[in-house]
Amino acid sequence: MQALMMTKYGDISTSLAFQSTATPKASASQVIIKVNASSINPFDYKVLKGEFKAFKKIHFPQGIGRDVSGVVVEVGNLVSHFKVGDAVLSRIDEDLVGTIAEYVASEAQHTALKPQEMTHEEAASMPLAGLTALQALVTTAQLKAGEKVLIHAGSGGVGTIAIQLAKSLGAFVVTTTSTANVDLVKNLGADQVIDYKKEDYLAQVSDCDVVFDTLGGAYTLDAFKAIKSGGRVVSVNGEVDDILARKLGLNFIIRKILSLKARKVTQAAAKKNATYRMILMNSDGVQLAELAELYVQKKIKAVIDCSYPFTESIEALKYLSKGRAKGKVVITH
Ligand SMILES: NC(=O)c1ccc[n+]([C@@H]2O[C@H](COP(=O)([O-])OP(=O)(O)OC[C@H]3O[C@@H](n4cnc5c(N)ncnc54)[C@H](OP(=O)(O)O)[C@@H]3O)[C@@H](O)[C@H]2O)c1
Repeated sequence: MQALMMTKYGDISTSLAFQSTATPKASASQVIIKVNASSINPFDYKVLKGEFKAFKKIHFPQGIGRDVSGVVVEVGNLVSHFKVGDAVLSRIDEDLVGTIAEYVASEAQHTALKPQEMTHEEAASMPLAGLTALQALVTTAQLKAGEKVLIHAGSGGVGTIAIQLAKSLGAFVVTTTSTANVDLVKNLGADQVIDYKKEDYLAQVSDCDVVFDTLGGAYTLDAFKAIKSGGRVVSVNGEVDDILARKLGLNFIIRKILSLKARKVTQAAAKKNATYRMILMNSDGVQLAELAELYVQKKIKAVIDCSYPFTESIEALKYLSKGRAKGKVVITH
């Protein structure tokens, strides 16, 4: 089969190539999906650039892409809840990466049925960004009705789902975006929109119960200026906290270095009697099915910036890497 492969660490334009690779076979716990659509995430080009080398080395050539929607063409011996012909979506396991391919293997436990009313493009846009928003706001922050949440980068792949999810939970949503995307995030339900090109967001928002930090850097530390005492900050881009470091199985010395790096954040959290968590999303078929159900109930919709054909997926990655996508960038196969 044809697949887009990472050939070495480096730039999008020089480190990717379409190659012929073996079509995957299902192990006992897997399904094989014939890909109708995939989507890309910043993680894809960050891995390519070598930003996660310290955690996991790549053996090249390796596939790229983690989100997929398609049709099951083979099921493993132990898989009972999917059958050949089912339309499904998945955020595949890191060991099975890439979805910019004709076929992909997915663990059954990471796979969910695609609702009929959802197109393959919409379904492919949902897994990684949707699970990130769900795991940040629901699993980790335990956001509740009536609470105020600040969601940074409301117009991005994660932000567009996070706004809708927070609204479906009954929260008051404040979000940051630039002038061109103000209407987009308002239409998704944001109650207060701060145009970061025109305003200092910290002068416009305070007393949040939760800050969802998708930006990292100074935004992580400044989140503690925007929360009320006892609030919660969840980051997907900030300093690694000890819970995540242990989950990643990092040794004592690396954990010590990371805790030193995170000390300003830890101190800011302590001063506000607040909690700080940095999360890495997990593949999860049950949560993916919950997101699909929210879509059916019209509580969330897919926000797709643009679609590229499979043959132009390198262009798609170049576009996404500019950091200006409005929702998700999808690839059609
Ligand atoms: N830890 C995890 O498990 C995990 C999971 C998913 C994502 N992430 C990370 O989370 C980040 C966001 O992911 P994504 O998929 O949403 O990325 P994305 O779709 O590429 O984000 C693009 C959006 O970010 C907005 N943006 C950029 N700078 C901004 C700023 N200073 N203030 C407000 N908005 C800003 C842009 O809006 P404007 O054009 O209006 O500026 C654009 O709409 C990435 O760094 C990604 O790697 C981490």
